[in-house]
Formats: sequence, structure tokens, C-alpha cells
Amino acid sequence: MNRYSLCWLDYDNSYCKTKGYAAFKDQFVRDFRHISVDPAVTNPILIKELSQFITEYFHVTIPASEQEDEHAIICGIATSSFLANKYVTQDEIRQLGSESFIIKYIEEKKSILLVGGSESGLLYSLFTFIAMIQKRIDYKKINIHESPSNPLRLLNHWDNLDGSVERGYAGASLFFKNNQIMIDHERHHDYARLLASIGINGTVINNVNVKEKAPYLITNEYLNELAELASILRAYNIRLFLSVNFMSPVIVGGLDTADPLDTKVQSWWQERVSCIYDMIPDFGGFLVKADSEYNPGPHTYGRSQADGANMLGRALKPYKGVLIWRAFVYKLQDWREPSIDRARAAYDIFFPLDGQFEDNVILQIKNGPMDFQVREPVSPLFGKMEWTNQILELQVTQEYTGHQIDLCYLGPQWKEIVGFDTHAKGTQAYVSSIINGSFYNRPIGGIAAVSNLGDDYNWTGHWLAQANWYAYGRLAWDPNLASADIAEEWVRRTMSDDQDATHSIVDMLEKSWSIYERYTTPFGLGWMVTPGTHYGPSPEGYEYSIWGTYHRANHKEIGVDRTSSGTGFSAQYHDYWTKQYDNLDSCPENLVLFFHRLAYTYPMKNGKTLIQNIYDAHFQAYEEMRAMQRQWSDMRLKIDPKIFAEVEERFTRQEENARQWRDVINSFFYRKSGIGDEQGRQLY
Ligand code: GCU
Repeated sequence: MNRYSLCWLDYDNSYCKTKGYAAFKDQFVRDFRHISVDPAVTNPILIKELSQFITEYFHVTIPASEQEDEHAIICGIATSSFLANKYVTQDEIRQLGSESFIIKYIEEKKSILLVGGSESGLLYSLFTFIAMIQKRIDYKKINIHESPSNPLRLLNHWDNLDGSVERGYAGASLFFKNNQIMIDHERHHDYARLLASIGINGTVINNVNVKEKAPYLITNEYLNELAELASILRAYNIRLFLSVNFMSPVIVGGLDTADPLDTKVQSWWQERVSCIYDMIPDFGGFLVKADSEYNPGPHTYGRSQADGANMLGRALKPYKGVLIWRAFVYKLQDWREPSIDRARAAYDIFFPLDGQFEDNVILQIKNGPMDFQVREPVSPLFGKMEWTNQILELQVTQEYTGHQIDLCYLGPQWKEIVGFDTHAKGTQAYVSSIINGSFYNRPIGGIAAVSNLGDDYNWTGHWLAQANWYAYGRLAWDPNLASADIAEEWVRRTMSDDQDATHSIVDMLEKSWSIYERYTTPFGLGWMVTPGTHYGPSPEGYEYSIWGTYHRANHKEIGVDRTSSGTGFSAQYHDYWTKQYDNLDSCPENLVLFFHRLAYTYPMKNGKTLIQNIYDAHFQAYEEMRAMQRQWSDMRLKIDPKIFAEVEERFTRQEENARQWRDVINSFFYRKSGIGDEQGRQLY
């Protein structure tokens, strides 16, 4: 048995080769007899990936050569003479960016053509072709041109050097142990393949909280191993990035200050950056969490966030590196002070700095104004910073969405986020077009996500949480894909190609977020989780804390008035949204308690009171969770028994969690309000 699952690249998985496979194989083997390789292709892994797929998936060998022939899979680079003017037009070539590709069937040659704008584009075309074959689509009808939507498609690992993973639910770090970088050639190679196969092109391997030994990662002590890791990733078009501590000149360099305007500090960073690039010429750049949750930053020296980011940006610029600066900056607060609203913080700090950042500096903004709650409005910074490069930060690891114990497929959530119309300059100013740079014509931008990976056999703890990893990559590449289609693709490549099983698992995935939301904190409430761990209910756990995360429930009402006449948060949006959110009639109900303070007796759109809706949501979502669990039981004979049993065990734990949420939250509201459930269901 392998040491770990190969996920959707396990081409031998018999559960994904059932009905229709044999006939498809016969056809494929008849149709393709050669792999014709453009001599301009220098990266050996490219053709190896294709050959390996054919051998493992079809159990046949198709020879590769530089000869051209009919019945071939032709692999080439757009600009090379191998293809020149033959199968692709000059126009098509001109349109191909380096990561773009074309796949098309050429009838007169009885061949399929895979052509990339560069070797990276070819790499993506190969993995796309492989996915199409696994889905058994009719390749004779293929004619696609694809380009990634986002220039940067990053994974952020929150891995500590001692091997632990902050908010990790899938085992230990894939990279670190005992303050060492552990190079595992085989697993890191497969890590890179899996990432590339879903289009990810950069990875930040260490936690944004750069503590203990982590600030030393940028010293010579670690550079050899980092260079080795970078070279494994490079073969798959993945660039290595590091999180750094803003105080490094002091912690590591022994200087007496980290003031960004101090020339000693600037020179120190320049020297460090130059050493890194000597070893890793394609190093991606730095990610910085500054002035946030006990991490130091430029505010320590009375400097702005732009001063801090630009200083690092300038050090990276000569090497084409980028500086990614997180917008997750807020002050700890006294819960007694109702005029401070944490939701406002990022905008209040960063909006006035628009236009002040270097052009290789990118602001990384969490999807919502708070912190990866099960539902939040989209951050108002998107669509407001015309002169600033932006990255959208999502959380794949299920910190607030069930710790990879509860099933919560986040594809539907992310679709809402990237599809959010900010109404900057009128309509159709979607988050997807702001972050990729196209809307404001920015030189760079993209998307990042906090990884859900660890060294578990299945990489993600819960087998079905793999779908989140997969969906993130696919949406980073193409935000227009439908979440159900992505889920289906993942299921067919990983779990089963049986139609009923596929249908059922996709159905479970698609409804799981909504179910999770309703048995935890519906209506945009958030923050009723157990403090610290963030798993399980604790309705007032964060109520009297320093974290700015209050719902302020009393015996009559709940919620925070964040409208323009309340904390003023809603006024940070473009007018359209300010009005939508301010007005109770137009405020989406699933966010109503994020924006409004309401009486328990407030009548919702369905005619029932708020409190009754809260009770109903919890009782119903619990039942839906149970139904989902039964749905999973029906999969027993359709999928791998190991996967079946492990997921079944997670569902058992999820059931306990859902029941706990239902009863604790409902009882909390009952005790606060004294209002019973109109259906007389049990409250405690
Ligand atoms: C959350 C999370 C922390 C993390 C922080 C961040 O607050 O609980 O573990 O460090 O986000 O995004 O930096």
C-alpha cells in the first residue's frame, strides 16, 4: 500500500473505472498510437506525466518520439517551429499567455493536439487532458482554449517549524519537523503534481504567525533545503514563498530596530533577499502578517502599512519577487466599548493608503471583514482600492466550518464570494475581475487559500474535504466553473464513477455548507464557537473577550447594528450595497444579524419570528444532517471500503456535534428570551 493516497491522480483506482471504461479504453488505444513530442520541450516530467497516466490508467504503453505521425497525441509549445503554422494559427498563438493552452482534435491527422503558451501551459494542458479522459469525454469533439483567470494561485500553509499546523486538521506538517525542513522527495513530488494538476502555481510553506524558530527560515541555515524543495516544485510551475516576521532585522539580524524607514533595516533586508535569490532564482516573495494578533509591524515605529510593505517590496523588486501584505489588521478591544467595530478595521486602515503601494506589493484580503465565519459579507475593500493589487484570501482549512470532522464543502461559498458584484463603477464589477487585475488594470493579483493539508494518508483528514482542496484550485483557475460541476469532477476522479454514487455524493457536498450553517450560526451571526479551538458551540464564549466578536444578545434582541447609522460598517461599500444592507427589506436574510440588531420577535420574510426561524433552522438542519448520514450509508458497496468506513466515522462525530449545536444554541435563546418553540420541540 502507498504511504499516502494519490487522490485524483490515482489512475489505478478501480472504483473510477467501472461501466464504460473498457469500451473507452479500446477506442482510445485504437485512436492513439504515438505521443509526438515537440523537441522544444525540455522539462522531462511533462511527457512522463502523460505516459505514466496512459500506463496506469489503460495498462498499455504508447511510445513517445519526436516524429510526427497520424493517430498521435501531439504535445508542443506554441512558439516552437514544430507546430509553426500547422495546427494553430498565428492568431491563436498570439493569444496564448505562458500558462495558457489549447487542446483540440485535428480530424485530418486523426490526432489530438495539446499546445501550451510555454512549458507551463503545456503542463496544464496535460493535466486537463488527463482529467477529460478520466471523465471519459468524447475527445474527438474537443476544441478548448484556456487561460487561468488569476495570475497568482497560491496555497498558504500555516505550518510551524516544530511540525504542528495552526488550524490544521489533517495530521502534521508536510514540510517541517523538530525545527528542520524535512525533504521527502516522493511526497513533495506528488504534492507538486497534485497542486499543478488543479492549477496552483505558488505555495507559502510556513505559518503567517512567524514565531519561535520560524524567523530564521530566511537565514543561510535553511537555504539549502529550501532550494531543494523549490527545485521539486519548479518542475511543476510552482514557486516557493515564505512568510516572514517584520521584526526579523532585530530577531535574526541583531539590529536595534526594524523601522522600515531606517537605512540599516533596508540594507539588511536587501542583503537577505539577495542571498535567497542566489539559491532560489525563481523565489516568489514574502507574505507578511504585520500589526496583527501580537505580530509586530510598522505601527510599532509609527509608520504606515504602506511604509512597511513598500520597504520589503523594493528589496524584492530587482528579482521580480512580490510582497504580499495581509490586510487582516485590527486592534484588540474592550467589549464594553460598543462604538468600535472590528468589521471596519481593514477598510479604515487600508483604504486611505490606496495608491501608495509599490507595484509589486499585493494586499491580501480575507473574503470577509471578520474572520472566515461560516458566512460573512464580502470585504468592502474589494472594489474600493483602484490603485492597489489585491489577493483574495479564502480558508480551505475548516477552522470555523467543522474541523474536517463535519462535512462542509465550500465550493458554493467561494462561488458567492468571487461572483459578488461590488458595484464599483456601476454594475458587473465582480470580485473575480478585481482580484485578477483586469477590472482596474493592475499588473498582478490573484487568490490565496489557507491550506487544509497535512501528512495524513488522505492529506485532508476527512476524505470528502479533499473536494475543498480540489475546488479551490479549480476556482482559482476558473471562477466561472459551477461548484457542483467541480464536485462531480472530483468525485468521478477520486471516489467513484458510478452514476448514482456520483450523484449522491455531489448532492451531499453541495448541501453540506448550508446544513452546517443552519445547525451552527445562521443569519450571519457567527462567533458562537468554543473559544480557542473553534469547534462546537459556546454562545457567549467570545462575548466578553478582547477579540471584537460580539453578538450582544440580551433578553429582547440580538445582533450588531452595522448600518450607516450604526457602526457605519455598511457605509464602507459602494452605495448600492450600503442601501441594500441598511434597509431591512433588502438586506439578505442570511446576513441580517451581521448588519442589524433585531428583536427575537422580529417578523422574517416567511412570516415567522426571528426566534422561531432560529429554532427551525437548528432542528431542521440537524435532521438534514442525519439524512445526509443515511445517504452516506447507501454508499457502502459503491466505494472503497476504507474510505467508506473512515467517512462513516466522521459522520458519527458530526452527528454529535450537530446535536450539540442544535441543543446548546436553541436552549441559549430560549433561556435568554423566555420564548418557547411554537412546535413544542424539546428545549433545555
Ligand atoms: C484567525 C485564526 C488564527 C490565525 C488568524 C490569521 O484568527 O484563528 O489562528 O492566525 O486568523 O488569519 O492570521
